[in-house]
Amino acid sequence: MPLSVVILAAGQGKRMNSDLPKVLQPLAGKPLLAHVIQTARRLAPDNIYVVYGHGGSEVQAAFEHERIDWVLQAEQLGTGHAVMQAMPMIPDDHLVLILYGDVPLIRIDTLRALLRAAHAPAIGLVCAQVAAPAGYGRVIRDSAGAVGAIIEQKDATPAQLAIHEVNAGIFAIPAQQLRAWLLELRSDNAQHEFYLTDVVASAVRAGTPIHAVPAGSEAEILGVNDRLQLAQVESAHRHERARELMLAGATLVDPARVDIRGHVRVGRDVSIDVNAVLLGEVSLGARVRIGPNCVIRDSEIGADTEIRANSIIEQARVGQHCVIGPFARLRPETVLDAHAHIGNFVEVKNSHIGEGSKANHLSYLGDSHIGAGVNVGAGTVTCNYDGANKSTTVIEDGAFIGSGSMLVAPVRIGADATIGAGSTITTDAPAGKLSLTRAQQATVEGWTRPDKREAAPQPKPSAKPKPKR
Ligand code: UD1
Ligand code: CA
Repeated sequence: MPLSVVILAAGQGKRMNSDLPKVLQPLAGKPLLAHVIQTARRLAPDNIYVVYGHGGSEVQAAFEHERIDWVLQAEQLGTGHAVMQAMPMIPDDHLVLILYGDVPLIRIDTLRALLRAAHAPAIGLVCAQVAAPAGYGRVIRDSAGAVGAIIEQKDATPAQLAIHEVNAGIFAIPAQQLRAWLLELRSDNAQHEFYLTDVVASAVRAGTPIHAVPAGSEAEILGVNDRLQLAQVESAHRHERARELMLAGATLVDPARVDIRGHVRVGRDVSIDVNAVLLGEVSLGARVRIGPNCVIRDSEIGADTEIRANSIIEQARVGQHCVIGPFARLRPETVLDAHAHIGNFVEVKNSHIGEGSKANHLSYLGDSHIGAGVNVGAGTVTCNYDGANKSTTVIEDGAFIGSGSMLVAPVRIGADATIGAGSTITTDAPAGKLSLTRAQQATVEGWTRPDKREAAPQPKPSAKPKPKR
């Protein structure tokens, strides 16, 4: 059956106490709704309809590059009413999968099982046994165990409230039946809303089989209504990603203290110390070691490389057997070839650093091409910016840059050249030779250190501000 996905995202999210629409609240650095859309896409549906309302333009703007059919629900009259808004666009022969913008951890395997269960005339819903069912709709079964109804928390009797099997809110229903049942919905309930969950009772009356598909875990169906639940979902997500890394062969010193906000691939025997934050697309080759407190975003780290404590790496490609940090910063468009060393308080941006080259202390390397076997002394700066334009520094293979050198770009240091410590290099330095700039050193004869003055009365600070110059 062709598939239409309807994602409900019109709710205001009052309990978040936020200026941001609820479905834009971040989970693992991405809006809640983005997670749901991403999962929906993997089912290759014909259409994805997102029902929006509160904060509509902001929500649409956040997804302007996605192919989505937006459906306005001007007034939030309930989940059933929300689905109704999308029905005019959906042909009768489609299967409709209903997802919630605030239930972000639902897994593709669960949805696939749901879609298999829901082929006309049968319908499917996702359920779960949970320890704390408060807030969820309860699944009511008859004596034979068949699903008879979903009763909302606010409409439930004390006996129904004691049920721990809950409705995740996720349904798969053939469009033709759904259309008819939505027309039967009434709002004579505790919240005066049109509940989507009431289609279950219609299905029962029509003699339609209802398959309740259990979610793989309680975390999958967690809904976000307030910030406590947002933190709960974040922690469940973190736990799940950490588990995947460990199963793939990484040692996490403390799985609760590694944050994965994106997609991380790991080789065998990677080890990650505490407080690593891995964002976006990250790939860690075999035996990569990551020290405590490192942040790595959208980067590739080659096998056997060591990232020492407190290093920040963004949009960089690091080769094999490199040593980075502690306290190193690799900024976007940095490429390091194998065996390169970038040490403490070294910042590298938009630079290619050749095999075995080293910049171990306190340097800035920006917009530079550095060959192989180069030694960059402590405190070296590529002066790449004149206040208007950026220029390039080229350092050829085997060059030795003495400590404290200013390389004023555009400038080229030839192969095997040596730059004397403390030089300001403004013109190209020839290959194989020593180039340096030196101010005369002077020694002042007869100079003595000043004596400490008697404490003199200090002038009172004037009340008038100093005139600006
Ligand atoms: C809903 C279910 C409940 C289920 C729970 C799971 C109903 C009546 N109840 O309750 O059985 O256990 O989800 O999390 O369906 N929305 C709209 N338009 C509206 C109302 C809601 O788009 O008019 C959207 C919300 O943005 C949200 C989703 O629908 O993404 C669920 O709405 P919410 O009010 O949070 O429903 P719950 O009370 O949690
Ligand atoms: Ca909810």
